[in-house]
Amino acid sequence: MKYNYKDFGLVNTREMFAKANKEGYAVPAFNFNNLEQLQAIIEACVEMGAPVILQVSSSARNYIGRDMIPWLGRAAVEYVKAAGSDIPVALHLDHGPSYEIAEDCILNGFSSVMIDASKYDYDENVAISKKVADFAHKYDVTVEAELGVLAGIEDEVHAEEHIFTRPEEVEDFVSKTGVDSLAIAIGTSHGAYKFKPGDNPHIRLDILKEIEKRIPGFPIVLHGSSSVPQQYVRIINENGGKIEDALGIPDEQLHMASKSAVAKINVDTDGRLAFTAGVRKAFADDPTVFDPRKYLAKGREFMKKYYKEKIVDVYGAEGAYKKGKERK
Ligand code: G3H
Ligand code: 13P
Ligand code: ZN
Repeated sequence: MKYNYKDFGLVNTREMFAKANKEGYAVPAFNFNNLEQLQAIIEACVEMGAPVILQVSSSARNYIGRDMIPWLGRAAVEYVKAAGSDIPVALHLDHGPSYEIAEDCILNGFSSVMIDASKYDYDENVAISKKVADFAHKYDVTVEAELGVLAGIEDEVHAEEHIFTRPEEVEDFVSKTGVDSLAIAIGTSHGAYKFKPGDNPHIRLDILKEIEKRIPGFPIVLHGSSSVPQQYVRIINENGGKIEDALGIPDEQLHMASKSAVAKINVDTDGRLAFTAGVRKAFADDPTVFDPRKYLAKGREFMKKYYKEKIVDVYGAEGAYKKGKERK
């Protein structure tokens, strides 16, 4: 093993999820691709006293660089300590596309991995997820698997329609695989275009309830849970962007889900939108700017502000841990 997450002060998701389910909130799981997004996420969570799962997709891992990732995780942990907070920080592989990539992350500083074999048939999904769980557990790394298919782009596979998770399969799936959490498909989807104008945006909380009944207390994960905040879409469009008819999941429905066995809610698109709105505004406000610190700081500021609101409105996780000081 090259990097052990425990040496870096990172934690797996086991205790985070147990506490979240007991206390009726969900753990924020936010994706990042660069330093400013990581700063926005960790600062927001520290100031709100919310636990955090730092998510890296395999394409983000290629973008940042495989050897740099664990050190960024460590930097986040050091930031938490210096701010006087005690929020737990997990470093998680999002949508692990293969056993080999999951294994590589386990050996290179990740405290949690997702194996996304939901594009395969049921038996193959069970076999791959179990293989990852068996390997991960040797190192006390936790594993998320997925059952059901989200509409839209997922793991470079495009699905026209949702294939909702079948509640009658979940018990068999979690007992055969030994995974630690389960991502389900109940009408959320990835990206900024989840619904069309005129749709009635909603998720199938009835299926969630059925699933909860079959595996009581087991941590459930929701992917594709961005709300697509219209204020940022507007700022982007008013400042040279062109994002049309982008609609997400209403906050209230996600908040309802956060009180159930849903222990982790994934958001990436909202952070990208807030960040882009800030950067576009910075350029529009001062066309002479060319210092990246000036325009990236605006992106960071917008993203952090949005995530602080989201921690209250969607996750219900404010004050779950000790709040830390703001960065000077
Ligand atoms: O669910 C996927 C995440 O939003 C990551 O997307 O592969 O573009 O980094 P990405
Ligand atoms: P969004 O595209 O809705 O932000 O979903 C992110 C996600 O599920 C990451 O795994
Ligand atoms: Zn996802």
